[in-house]
Amino acid sequence: LDIGEPSSCFKRKPVIVIVVGMAGSGKTTFLHRLVSHTMSSKIRGYVMNLDPAVMTLPYGANIDIRDTVRYKEVMKEYNLGPNGGILTSLNLFATKFDEVIGLVERRADELDYVLVDTPGQIEIFTWSASGAIITEAFASTFPTVIAYVVDTPRSSSPATFMSNMLYACSILYKTRLPLVLVFNKTDVAQHDFALEWMKDFEVFHAALDSDHSYTSTLTRSLSLALEEFYENLKTVGVSAVTGAGMDAFFKTVEASAEEYMETY
Ligand code: GTP
Repeated sequence: LDIGEPSSCFKRKPVIVIVVGMAGSGKTTFLHRLVSHTMSSKIRGYVMNLDPAVMTLPYGANIDIRDTVRYKEVMKEYNLGPNGGILTSLNLFATKFDEVIGLVERRADELDYVLVDTPGQIEIFTWSASGAIITEAFASTFPTVIAYVVDTPRSSSPATFMSNMLYACSILYKTRLPLVLVFNKTDVAQHDFALEWMKDFEVFHAALDSDHSYTSTLTRSLSLALEEFYENLKTVGVSAVTGAGMDAFFKTVEASAEEYMETY
């Protein structure tokens, strides 16, 4: 794999890739695919699981929140439901995150990427204090990129597409980190329609024409507001199942990391 000459800044630092996405978008399958791709392409990757509630992982994690925090016990001890349990587990883990950063720093010379899996319920990571603490701890130490996984077939209706883009936009504004939109499941539906909609709002408006509801008017106005957001994004189409688009993904991450080094 030729991902280009790394800039001098990256030589000693791995790029952190935080994978987020709506439940069912295919994060775990994508992470699994990334891990096998790194192995077969001689990319030196490190894998971190931040989902305390996941039962089994299809890939081996180098750092696993489950080794430190027992989610079921946290639920019992603090008398919490499943989401509260995940959130509290993440909070407990965040208090020790300097140790995790230290661990990665010690191995920095041997690593190209740290791939980070996040809890299935996206807002637990993106809208929690601990998610912010973890993200900031990474971003203040290493070039950090957010990979937002989109379920492409499920985003083919204009209104669903728009709500997914608004969520991605909120993550961009909250983290202020480079964001890569990863259109997953392209084996089921290609993502060309999405690229068209992002490039030309008139094409998007034409797709909305059959819908005369209030949300259609709102969606129309929002698409204009999102133009600037789209300009700041990088996109890539992948299939976590077939493995299509993996080289393109790493190239896009590399370009985003360059952007990170210039901006931050
Ligand atoms: P949670 O952790 O539960 O939020 O889910 P997730 O986002 O990690 O998604 P997961 O990897 O569990 O995938 C959800 C479903 O989508 C599974 O049935 C996968 O087999 C399927 N899936 C994931 N990626 C692809 C893909 O590229 N193509 C197809 N056809 N299916 C996929």
